[in-house]
Amino acid sequence: MEQFHQYDTTEWGEWFDCYFGSYDDDFTFMMGLARTAKGPVLEAGCGTGRLLLPMLQEGIDARGFDISKPLLDRLKAKAKAQGIDKPPVKQASMLDFKYKERFDRILIAFRTFNHCPNPDAQLQCLRNCYKHLRPGGQLIIATFIPHPDTIVQADNSLKVTGAVENPETGEPVLISHYVAEIDSLMQVRTDVWIIEELQPPKGQAPRRMFLPVTLRWVHPSEMSLLLRLAGFEQAEVVGDFDWGPLDSGCDEQIWIATKKG
Ligand SMILES: C[S@@+](CC[C@H](N)C(=O)[O-])C[C@H]1O[C@@H](n2cnc3c(N)ncnc32)[C@H](O)[C@@H]1O
Repeated sequence: MEQFHQYDTTEWGEWFDCYFGSYDDDFTFMMGLARTAKGPVLEAGCGTGRLLLPMLQEGIDARGFDISKPLLDRLKAKAKAQGIDKPPVKQASMLDFKYKERFDRILIAFRTFNHCPNPDAQLQCLRNCYKHLRPGGQLIIATFIPHPDTIVQADNSLKVTGAVENPETGEPVLISHYVAEIDSLMQVRTDVWIIEELQPPKGQAPRRMFLPVTLRWVHPSEMSLLLRLAGFEQAEVVGDFDWGPLDSGCDEQIWIATKKG
């Protein structure tokens, strides 16, 4: 089955945390769900450990997997620096990951689910998560609401996010992006993220990386249907990380789908 493999590059391994590392809108929400789990927690697409490492630091019985080896290598290096010797992570895809154990909660955070490239892949992922949950276990998926302005503009115009500190080196980098392609039939959008060094090491030319990210957007009505098709009898949705209701003004859709107990 087709998959979006774009993070599987050394460039993403090096630069991922500059862009994604400081996102924390979901942190309290996801950590709360991990803390209150009545059994093991799995993070699908754990990246460089933005959520997984704090869970392990707290002693939560958590594990994770990701499709990208460079991101997992970065996670392991960060874990080592934090005194976590062997973080329980492996390279796998959310479409066909396999664990013998069954989980109380599976988290798919921060648009990771949008890397399933089409409805068949989405359903395969959801069915696989369902299979890996204990009775009564919950799948949590956070993704964006595809508002019209996020899905109609592929104008190649550069939008500057701003300067951030590279958490690895402390050096400033400038982050910008442009929408490179929109396929409104397949509901797929490709952005190119550009990361530029502002103060390169002495004597070196500044580097500028072009890093593509392709996402398939999913509407709340589709998501509800997909979850039911995958076997989830009950699915609650909220519209922000404070458990507020989902309405047309929300930017997030956060699903909590429960496997029958
Ligand atoms: C936006 S990042 C989020 C990372 C992490 N969950 C976080 O919240 O910081 C999306 C992640 O999904 C991973 N990914 C993409 N496709 C995947 C797949 N088929 N299976 C597992 N992970 C995948 C990427 O490698 C990347 O780490």
